[in-house]
Amino acid sequence: NRGAYPHFMLKEIHEQPEVVAHTLLGRVAGESVDLSKELGWTKEDAAKWRKIHFIACGTSHYATVVAAHIMETLGNFEIRTEVASEYRYRNIPIDEETLAVFVSQSGETADTLHAARLAKERGAKCLVITNVRGSTIHREVGEALITPAGPEIGVAATKTFTAQMTVLTLLGLYLAKLRGDLKPDTERRLTAALMDIPGKLATMLSKEKEIEALARDFADARGFFFIGRGLAYPPALEGALKLKEISYLHAEAYPAGEMKHGPIALLDKELPVVALVPKNALWEKTISNIEESMARKSPIIAIATEGDGEIGHYTKHVIFTPETEPELFPFIAIIPLQLFAYYIARQRGCDIDMPRNLAKSVTVE
Ligand code: F6R
Repeated sequence: NRGAYPHFMLKEIHEQPEVVAHTLLGRVAGESVDLSKELGWTKEDAAKWRKIHFIACGTSHYATVVAAHIMETLGNFEIRTEVASEYRYRNIPIDEETLAVFVSQSGETADTLHAARLAKERGAKCLVITNVRGSTIHREVGEALITPAGPEIGVAATKTFTAQMTVLTLLGLYLAKLRGDLKPDTERRLTAALMDIPGKLATMLSKEKEIEALARDFADARGFFFIGRGLAYPPALEGALKLKEISYLHAEAYPAGEMKHGPIALLDKELPVVALVPKNALWEKTISNIEESMARKSPIIAIATEGDGEIGHYTKHVIFTPETEPELFPFIAIIPLQLFAYYIARQRGCDIDMPRNLAKSVTVE
């Protein structure tokens, strides 16, 4: 039931504060992460898993790209993120020292399931993160962390993405802690920041009208180019995917520094650049890419941090995000990007909940 919302996608976008709060419930106590009720892992297990493989498709894959960036800041992990349809057919070393984490909203994605079978055969320790208890991947892998996002009806994944990022961040913290890598103040800082995420998502949702107006201004664009650096890059990937899926516009995300290695040739006044430019150590670098884009006459839409007094010199199209710990920027940045894709698609009269050529779960290879 979509209640008063015109589309399930919009309803599900609005459910995200609640979904994140629910996902943290029972997993964070005080300022400490505890997954021992769900995972029977010992310190020795965690020390043995030198290699962490994240395997998923689509939006779930992008959640793992966020996780990898965060985990690299937490401990000495050797991490790979792979799309399932590639992981299966390459010769990636998988062994008893590998923890293979499969992420699938539906738990039915054929490539992810086959990749899990392969990793299991090779002796890896397997874990699944899924939104569907009792799904095929859950039953086959056994050990699971559930994203309690509730059924997602819109074909474009939204609330399950934030739930996946939440669970993956907790997993990273927990593993780092078991291995003795996690600094207590990092645990305190990030758990407190995670607990604040629902409120910050609500702040972003309150900017819906502003984002709708922005989408109205840009609905006739030829396509969109997304850029970001570090942890601003994975939400750019997901923002571009949302646009492609539901508005059928071409959208592409690049690490900002890669732009001049080819794609900058695409830029002109009909190709807006969506720049994710949080106020952090990489801010100036991304600003220089904004300047390069402006020199090619691309309109700039910036996702910037509240209080950034300089971003207004570059563009009048700015969506401000509340400050958070740098690691959690993707959680907040994704809200305006989901809403932007939604309103662009609506302007263009697209079938938002059932986009052409797509199915909610991809059970064929
Ligand atoms: C994007 C989307 C797809 C899925 C992908 C994986 O909005 O829905 O890219 O993320 O098909 O699906 P799951 O997570 O069910 O394995």
